[in-house]
Amino acid sequence: MGVWDDVLRENESLFRDSVALSYDYIPKLVPFRELEQKRVAACIKPLFSRTSGRNILVYGLPGVGKTVAIRHVLEEIEDHTEDIVPLYINCWKKNTSYKILLEICDLIGYKLTHNKNTQDLFGIIKERLNKYSVVFCFDEVDKLEDTDFLYFILEDIYRASIVLITNYKSWLAALDERIKSRLTPELLEFRPYNDHEVAEILKQRLQYAFVPGVWPDDAFALVVRHTTDYEDVRAGLYLLKETTILAEEAGAKKVTRDHVDKAVAKMQEFTIKQTQELEDDARFILALVKENSGKRIGDVFAQYQEKGGMRSYKSFQRKIQSLADAQFIDVEKVTDAKGNTTILMHKDSTKKLTDF
Ligand SMILES: Nc1ncnc2c1ncn2[C@@H]1O[C@H](COP(=O)(O)OP(=O)(O)OP(=O)(O)O)[C@@H](O)[C@H]1O
Ligand SMILES: [Mg+2]
Repeated sequence: MGVWDDVLRENESLFRDSVALSYDYIPKLVPFRELEQKRVAACIKPLFSRTSGRNILVYGLPGVGKTVAIRHVLEEIEDHTEDIVPLYINCWKKNTSYKILLEICDLIGYKLTHNKNTQDLFGIIKERLNKYSVVFCFDEVDKLEDTDFLYFILEDIYRASIVLITNYKSWLAALDERIKSRLTPELLEFRPYNDHEVAEILKQRLQYAFVPGVWPDDAFALVVRHTTDYEDVRAGLYLLKETTILAEEAGAKKVTRDHVDKAVAKMQEFTIKQTQELEDDARFILALVKENSGKRIGDVFAQYQEKGGMRSYKSFQRKIQSLADAQFIDVEKVTDAKGNTTILMHKDSTKKLTDF
């Protein structure tokens, strides 16, 4: 055996393909959501015979497979027909009618949007989309600042189905009456998975993401238990990834329950996604980042202190990291004339910055 063999083996990663653990990854199968997918497909079905589709409001807790199940349905439409255009938009990233219409233009390949207002954009969209049938999917609709675009679509796009996704069924009740009476959506709840379902979903990812043998049954069972407690599959994906990184860092060839415990402790530093549950200080910091999106971390910290923030710089940095982990903000390390620093970006504006 050559002298480098051991060294090389030590450097071998325990991951095979960590993409399978990313929250946006769409697996080939979405088990335990077949009935829900059928319900959505039934609303879209009339479009196949060129009549208007029905609308549906999908709701449920975070991390129960709403986005992945619906995106899967949209991908299947794309594979089966050219006559139906599926459009998926995340309303957290695009939270006004204007931004949504811009995004639709982008999705349908219309580039000359410069200097056009909301009405102009809608005119273009109407002309182009009315040649087809359209499935609009608006995800995270509770993050919308206005809903006028829904009125436009309901009034002027002739053959369409609108799929709305939210955590809160009550979002519908607060909707503008004129929109509500035209929308009249069916309601579809996604209930949380039980522990058997969570285990099967995570097992599917194990095969893609890790070298065989890295995850012993007892450690995996512990991840399943924690995931079921959190009622959020993202927690499971996070734990699979973080645990394995911790094991790698410790030079282990397999993960242990101890590594899982450490990853769980790390996860408890942040709630994965629910803005509502952010404690006040984190909200305050998030609002500051929103106001100062694109600025250096030091400058944002200075403002934080000026406005009465009590944390030390180190603890402020940790909070920033947990907001980034929870995907509320983006952080980018850059080197400029003043040296190395971190630029903080609120999620809405990151997208805008990369658009140009
Ligand atoms: N049945 C499933 N099969 C495979 N993966 C799943 C399944 N359900 C959820 N997941 C995975 O769990 C993660 C969270 O699911 P998803 O993003 O669909 O949640 P959600 O219900 O849309 O949550 P939120 O309300 O926070 O947006 C994703 O990475 C998704 O791929
Ligand atoms: Mg979602």
